[in-house]
Amino acid sequence: MIEAEGMSHMIHNKELFRQARAVREQFYGKAVFLRGLIELSSYCESNCFYCGLRKSNQHAARYRLTPEEIFSCCGQGYDSGIRTFVLQGGEDSYFNDDRMAKIVNEIRTRWPDCAITLSLGERSRASYQALFDAGADRYLLRHETANKAHYAKLHPSELCFDKRMECLHDLRDIGYQVGCGFLVGSPGQTQEHLEQELAFLRDFRPQMVGIGPFLPHKDTPFAHAPAGSLALTLEMLAKIRLLLPHANLPATTALGTLSENGRTIGLQAGANVLMPNLSPDRTKSKYQLYDNKLHESLQDLCEAVALAGYEVVIGRGDPYG
Ligand code: 5AD
Ligand code: SF4
Repeated sequence: MIEAEGMSHMIHNKELFRQARAVREQFYGKAVFLRGLIELSSYCESNCFYCGLRKSNQHAARYRLTPEEIFSCCGQGYDSGIRTFVLQGGEDSYFNDDRMAKIVNEIRTRWPDCAITLSLGERSRASYQALFDAGADRYLLRHETANKAHYAKLHPSELCFDKRMECLHDLRDIGYQVGCGFLVGSPGQTQEHLEQELAFLRDFRPQMVGIGPFLPHKDTPFAHAPAGSLALTLEMLAKIRLLLPHANLPATTALGTLSENGRTIGLQAGANVLMPNLSPDRTKSKYQLYDNKLHESLQDLCEAVALAGYEVVIGRGDPYG
């Protein structure tokens, strides 16, 4: 009986993935867009329960990239065909508006044909505006869960769901292309929460959606919580593709960490973006959001693309339409 149910679930998902692929190919063909990830700071003043970079983790290795290191990552990425740079970091007040705006402005000047994406957590509206004016085009801020009570279980009390939503709305009002996203299989997540995720995305209509499985980190309060599953992550990817046909949807590093061919099957379930890591070798192993985070070369990722039957394109990869 259980087996039969499992089987029908698999067949059901196979059909779901086929539909998601068809919709993805209708808008993006076989194209896979690359976003070069530059992890500029592992300092974080926030304390999310799930994350290895949380402020209370005394064991986390902390570093900051210098502006020169950041530009050197951009240059190397550019030479390998990358036309979107994602500057991501913990919530680190060292990277204040003045320092960040100078960095963004220089990238905008030196690589005018590239998109600049920021992923620096919650900041004030004035800060988001200043960085937009300096030349940033896109902002990623995962909402982590669309359920307010669940949000309070994943975060300490100083972090607030309403504030996160306000940030997302500010970013959109300012004119950024906005990406949000959630953890699949985070502690306490229910089927009902997943339905709420889809309802939230349907209403908010972000241009990008980053989802990945929750993966435990040994030095966090969720060290012993089970990881999110591959099957559920793929199912959510496919459902998001059907819901938001134009969305840029990455097959994330967490998916690749969970399963060896996670990225390839992610692409086959509706994802159209990969985010190779451009961070320098000296820092790559220090940006530990979760245990065993994968370090894949651009070449490995290109192999995943070929295996999926897709092709990498050189370009900013703006959303269709
Ligand atoms: N497992 C999976 N993803 C995580 N992130 C942080 N910690 C974890 C974890 N333990 C994700 C969050 C955050 C992004 C930068 O990394 O969703 O928004
Ligand atoms: Fe900091 Fe982001 Fe980790 Fe939260 S998820 S602790 S904000 S780096």
